[in-house]
Amino acid sequence: MSKISKNTDSTQIKIASHKGKLGVLLPGMSGAVSTTFIAGIEAIKKGLGRPIGSLTQMGTIRLGKRTDKKSPLIKDFIGLTDIKDIVFGGWDIYPDNCYDAAVKSGVLKNELLQKLKPTLKKSSPMKAVFSQQYVKNLSGTHVKKGKTKMDLAEQLIKDINKFKKDNKLDRLVMLWCGSTEVFLKITKVHSTLKSFEAGLKKNSKDIPPSMIYAYAAIKCGIPYGNGAPNLSADVPALEELAIENKVPIAGKDFKTGQTLMKTILAPGFKSRLLGINGWFSTNILGNRDGEVLDDPWSFKTKEESKLSVLDSIFQPHLYPALYSDFYHKVRINYYPPRGDEKEAWDNIDIFGWLDYPMQIKVNFLCRDSILAAPIVLDLVLFLDLAKRAEMFGIQEWLSFYFKSPMVKRGLYPEHDLFIQQMKLKNTLRFLKGENLITHLGLDYYD
Ligand SMILES: NC(=O)c1ccc[n+]([C@@H]2O[C@H](COP(=O)([O-])OP(=O)(O)OC[C@H]3O[C@@H](n4cnc5c(N)ncnc54)[C@H](O)[C@@H]3O)[C@@H](O)[C@H]2O)c1
Repeated sequence: MSKISKNTDSTQIKIASHKGKLGVLLPGMSGAVSTTFIAGIEAIKKGLGRPIGSLTQMGTIRLGKRTDKKSPLIKDFIGLTDIKDIVFGGWDIYPDNCYDAAVKSGVLKNELLQKLKPTLKKSSPMKAVFSQQYVKNLSGTHVKKGKTKMDLAEQLIKDINKFKKDNKLDRLVMLWCGSTEVFLKITKVHSTLKSFEAGLKKNSKDIPPSMIYAYAAIKCGIPYGNGAPNLSADVPALEELAIENKVPIAGKDFKTGQTLMKTILAPGFKSRLLGINGWFSTNILGNRDGEVLDDPWSFKTKEESKLSVLDSIFQPHLYPALYSDFYHKVRINYYPPRGDEKEAWDNIDIFGWLDYPMQIKVNFLCRDSILAAPIVLDLVLFLDLAKRAEMFGIQEWLSFYFKSPMVKRGLYPEHDLFIQQMKLKNTLRFLKGENLITHLGLDYYD
């Protein structure tokens, strides 16, 4: 059992020091999210930008009663790795260095990238574990060869150990920022660690690259997170390995853009008991992620992730009169002229008092990778914190960052952004032996 369940007496959990160098390993290192994250951190280090959107850098946490007026910055309260101590590494199917990849991604302005060029040119991805079978719309040359999937996992483990040694790192975190793989279901191969390892040796088709990276990380004792909707570490076998090796894991699918808006709006409608007849969501997106999602099987993985959100917020089984019969549709259309600057439209048909209908329209012109980069940073720092605090297995308190939060089998995920935020902050309070905040004021009885 994790230590987390034992802190009932307001004692502080022992957390190892956050000092020293932290290696961040990104499968998908040349993609839009990874390069916006890496270039963003380099820009922030040089004072050329601000970490907007990052809870670990800008967020505060209230401690004690409101009258205590104690709200330190989260990073000062809990002790997180300084961004100056982060070293980047990763893998991609394209060999471009980080500067060239960031230019190609077209998210950040050239004027900023020019100033970061000498630093960004120094990092390049290692050869990837990849097969087009799992991402139909991509083909790359910077790819490892191996007789079996176990061979490939062992090559990744060698990469990890070399990266750690070469950069004199104290700790590591791995976060999947690679493309969305085709839709796969959990099968027998994924059911136990033994069957999974046998599957690696037998080249099971049920094991895509993202699972091989997850296996390599967890095997090395490295926290692993998944920013895409494909299963990756979300299978019993890898959860078993994470528990055995005392490794924290989290996923899936960064909660940005349209789904972020959904999980902000839907809890509000539900709180006021407003009914829903339909929620139609469509997007146009022109980056490489959009191109990958143009393949129906990669889209299916994304669709499942996006669709799951509303049901779990509205709880139709508890509120059948309001939510048992609403129509939910999600579409993503690849439209190259927009690049990373996605546009999302939502039409929401709601009903109120005496069933009178109303409509809400949301038009979000967002920048996908600009919304994802601070999430990558927070996840890296919090997964490292989890490891230092000896928390292991699925880290549900990080659901705040995901569209399809991983939960223990048999439990349903929490999608409401505000409950997720409370869970995250209360976990931090708990780790430091502070009182949890329930917002229950009992002063009426004083
Ligand atoms: N940007 C967002 O707001 C957002 C939100 C939620 C989820 N995501 C997910 O995050 C991931 C990254 O998004 P992006 O916009 O950077 O996409 P991207 O297409 O720009 O980058 C993905 C990168 O992964 C690489 N890649 C694919 N398979 C690989 C493998 N097996 N090993 C190593 N590299 C591999 C590709 O070559 C590419 O460089 C996608 O799966 C996307 O669906 C992004």
